[in-house]
Amino acid sequence: MSQRQLTFHIFRYKPETPKQDPSMQTYVLPEEPGMTLFIALNQIREEQDPSLQFDFVCRAGICGSCGMLINGKPTLACRTLTKSLPAEITLMPLPLYQLLGDLSVDTGSWFRDVSLRTEAWIHTEKRFDPAAEEERMSNDTALNIYEAERCIECGCCIGGCATANIKPDFIGAAGVNRVARFMLDPRDERDEQEYFDVVGSEDGIFGCIGLMACDDNCPIGIPLQGQLAYVRRKMAVAGWKR
Ligand code: SF4
Ligand code: FES
Repeated sequence: MSQRQLTFHIFRYKPETPKQDPSMQTYVLPEEPGMTLFIALNQIREEQDPSLQFDFVCRAGICGSCGMLINGKPTLACRTLTKSLPAEITLMPLPLYQLLGDLSVDTGSWFRDVSLRTEAWIHTEKRFDPAAEEERMSNDTALNIYEAERCIECGCCIGGCATANIKPDFIGAAGVNRVARFMLDPRDERDEQEYFDVVGSEDGIFGCIGLMACDDNCPIGIPLQGQLAYVRRKMAVAGWKR
């Protein structure tokens, strides 16, 4: 099979140089076997344009730093093979997050804010005793917590969510997933009302209108639809009222 020439249309804008308007810039690159967008973007930066800005840390779908819109779909660039894409590839930064430059956005501040708003830590009156025996939990509970803990904070679920894109304070599926993680944890001593106070608003679970782009776009397959349903079910069973 003949080698493809890939044409990249990449969003360019650096907020620190506002005199320059946002634009799309085109780069052409020969495709290599096994090429990922990580490889392609680095090759473009090394050989054609050292000013191109994007983020990669782990290159293995672990750190969550390389989320971007790839032909309109929010996903991880490091895990995207060019052979899975047409020869024309459009790359845009994830919407909603603060733009740092070109394809680089600040997801960290968004996640820190949601962690504070959802009080995403174990609430307990117990004092830490380093000599105490470890407290055991059932395998099923540990696995359910692990499932929610797998979030790598890439921001793709939020970037693809229509509600989050029009409501800047919406905590989105990643935020609800975080609340679900602590609801599942027997070490967290908050009662249900305290969780519901955190999540039971239009910026929380009631803001979701069920489009489920979060579930479609989570690149590591966290069952976000299930997590949203879990929190909703808990609230319904408890007869929680707004
Ligand atoms: Fe990324 Fe999935 Fe976490 Fe959303 S829930 S931030 S898509 S890993
Ligand atoms: Fe870490 Fe892509 S570089 S997830």
